[in-house]
Amino acid sequence: MNAEVTPWDVKGKVDYNKLMKEFGIQPFSELLENWNVDVEPMHLMRRGIIFGHRDYDRILEAMNGKKWAVMSGFMPSGLPHLGHKMTMDEIIWHQKAGGFAHVALADMEAHVVRGLSWEKLKEIGKLYLKSLIALGLNPDRAFLYYQSEFGKLKDLAFELSAEVNWSELKAIYGFTPETPLAKMFVTSVQAADILHPQLKDPKPVVVPVGADQDPHIRLTRDLASRVSIFAFEEIDSGVRVRSRRGSEYLRMLEKELSFEYRSYAEHIDVFGERRDIEEFIRKFEVEIGGFAFIPPSSTYHKFITGLTGGKMSSSKPESYISLFDEPSVAEKKVKRAITGGRGSAEEQRRLGGEPERCAVFELFAIHLIERDEDLEEIRRKCVEGEMLCGNCKKLASQLIGEFLKDFQEKVNSVELR
Ligand code: TRP
Ligand code: SF4
Repeated sequence: MNAEVTPWDVKGKVDYNKLMKEFGIQPFSELLENWNVDVEPMHLMRRGIIFGHRDYDRILEAMNGKKWAVMSGFMPSGLPHLGHKMTMDEIIWHQKAGGFAHVALADMEAHVVRGLSWEKLKEIGKLYLKSLIALGLNPDRAFLYYQSEFGKLKDLAFELSAEVNWSELKAIYGFTPETPLAKMFVTSVQAADILHPQLKDPKPVVVPVGADQDPHIRLTRDLASRVSIFAFEEIDSGVRVRSRRGSEYLRMLEKELSFEYRSYAEHIDVFGERRDIEEFIRKFEVEIGGFAFIPPSSTYHKFITGLTGGKMSSSKPESYISLFDEPSVAEKKVKRAITGGRGSAEEQRRLGGEPERCAVFELFAIHLIERDEDLEEIRRKCVEGEMLCGNCKKLASQLIGEFLKDFQEKVNSVELR
């Protein structure tokens, strides 16, 4: 069966290489080969769980002393589970690496897509905020908000929606004539989530998300350009600058330029260091009231397999572990999980297990094992048939129990401001 991936539905088995080819997502592995910043790549990057990106080079560049931000969001429509924890860990990792963190509680989206009341969304949203902090987010270097309570966000969403038309929405999201207007509008709200960190202060922003969110990212990157005045093209030893609002903006700009340039009717060629020129012009655009958005960067993680096989789904409690599950309940879920084990113990000793299709191994890789050497040891023992699934699950369930106990103690002591 061919996979179908939209932001609200993932069907079938996903071929990540195909996904990357089709949409122009870059493989993250290439970045790892030329990693030139002080922080170690996150474990999800090292382990190929974060498999792709757009423009992450920009973030790596900014990590060397510039201002940048990380931004992502959650629909507070059910208890936060290990899938959400993965994104939370990514936000926290980026914050520790120097980015200012922005987190949206997508209550507007959840209200139209899942039909939950505003009160319920507030209540569940609090659990997400507390979870983020308990997992290590520093609230002093973060901006956490509900979409519905953030006026400037809704203004920006409205502004962005002026640039989006029906055929575009239909092509990107597969909307039909029956789709409610509000469901269409929340796509602009999400674009506003992603772009608001740059209001008045354009900077690189990375959005860590699951692969299903890429349509939003593509639309947002496009909108970032469409609503900004100046457009940049790389040329030999500089940048060609065009205006999307008429040439009078070029004439205003050239009066201010502190670089060498050559002026034409419809563009200006500016010579010098590309990033410096763009930064200068963006500052100028903000001064004259423009947005000057930098297209956001993104990272993509793989979907995690449900414990019962197939997709992890909020509607199947057995398929996921919630951060608020009783440790003993979670331990039992792990013990019942689908593995990459063989039909019999004899067969498994002979052939070894298949960690690459094992939900328990995924738990180790994403959440439970910090050191790469330890993970590699589990993998080796599995494929060599040295360890059987029973013992392996025992270890996983013990680790998950310990993690939840510790996490829940922390969550209970978090005070929201
Ligand atoms: N749409 C996302 C989801 O389904 C949630 C979300 C809202 C989001 N705003 C965002 C994700 C901004 C990334 C960035 O879970
Ligand atoms: Fe999965 Fe562990 Fe069984 Fe290997 S031994 S298939 S990793 S549960």
